[in-house]
Amino acid sequence: EDERQAAIERIKKLLVEKDAVLVAHYYTDDDIQALAEATGGCVADSLEMARFGNQHPASTLLVAGVRFMGETAKILTPEKKVIMPTLEATCSLDLGCDADEFAKFCDQHPDRTVVVYANTSAAVKARADWVVTSSIALDVVDHLDAEGEKILWAPDKHLGGYVAKQTGADMLLWQGACIVHDEFKSNALRQLKIEHPEAAILVHPESPESVVDMADAVGSTSQLIKASQELDNETFIVATDRGIFYKMQQLSPEKNFIEAPTGGQGATCRSCAHCPWMAMNGLVAIEEALLDGTGREVFVDEDVRQKALVPLNRMLNFQV
Ligand code: 13P
Ligand code: SF4
Repeated sequence: EDERQAAIERIKKLLVEKDAVLVAHYYTDDDIQALAEATGGCVADSLEMARFGNQHPASTLLVAGVRFMGETAKILTPEKKVIMPTLEATCSLDLGCDADEFAKFCDQHPDRTVVVYANTSAAVKARADWVVTSSIALDVVDHLDAEGEKILWAPDKHLGGYVAKQTGADMLLWQGACIVHDEFKSNALRQLKIEHPEAAILVHPESPESVVDMADAVGSTSQLIKASQELDNETFIVATDRGIFYKMQQLSPEKNFIEAPTGGQGATCRSCAHCPWMAMNGLVAIEEALLDGTGREVFVDEDVRQKALVPLNRMLNFQV
């Protein structure tokens, strides 16, 4: 505990010395989220992380999350140094969408507007017309559908299916999934809801359709946190990475938050729903990244960066 506190103090000093700001996702460890809050950084969903890094004056962005978040920061602000606790922190959606295969898929459907989820590599974004995060996907696709566009969507099949169902848009889906959210089980959730009939169910749209169908609120991490504040329920069953409980509990200390089950009938699996790549972000890695960014700095090929910047800026400039 003493060493942890000492590390936190050293990191605080280093952030100032290096003119760096910590940009963290809600799925990182509590320690990291608290540190970001205490040092003028942000804890946010993917869209807000991109906006924050884009606007913040610090010359170094320390992005605690997964690889695509660091890449997005670098694409938007190439003049800044972007470092991550580890470059090994990837995402199953990113891994499941190879840029060459994706380009072939796009080539086969030239009549479709290409919309990709932020959870992709810079090279995949470079091939897209639009980038969206879960917080803005419905609005962007609704807009494109109203303009008569047919859509090619990648990589998350659950989010894509949810957006197609909500908007009625014609969407051809890449078949990717998030290994964390794909594990939520509707049968076990139904059982848990019988035990807690008063609970509201909050679901991230990377979850399977049968789980999303049971939700009282569906949305990005920030949107789910907002729902946890706004709904009157005392108890919430939450289907997303458990990292989100830090902020939900902080904002509503009087409410009860229960993890949605990932196991079989009736099973509540404590700590199951946690992204292994988000978990790679620790205090030790953060301190090392600040001391010596070698091997932890994010670079994006300039040609790819310029191409990926176009759909990313469309997202940032999109007004509902
Ligand atoms: P949001 O924070 O944008 O909802 O993204 C969720 C996610 O999967 C990040 O890994
Ligand atoms: Fe990717 Fe899922 Fe991890 Fe988010 S939680 S980074 S979507 S694997």
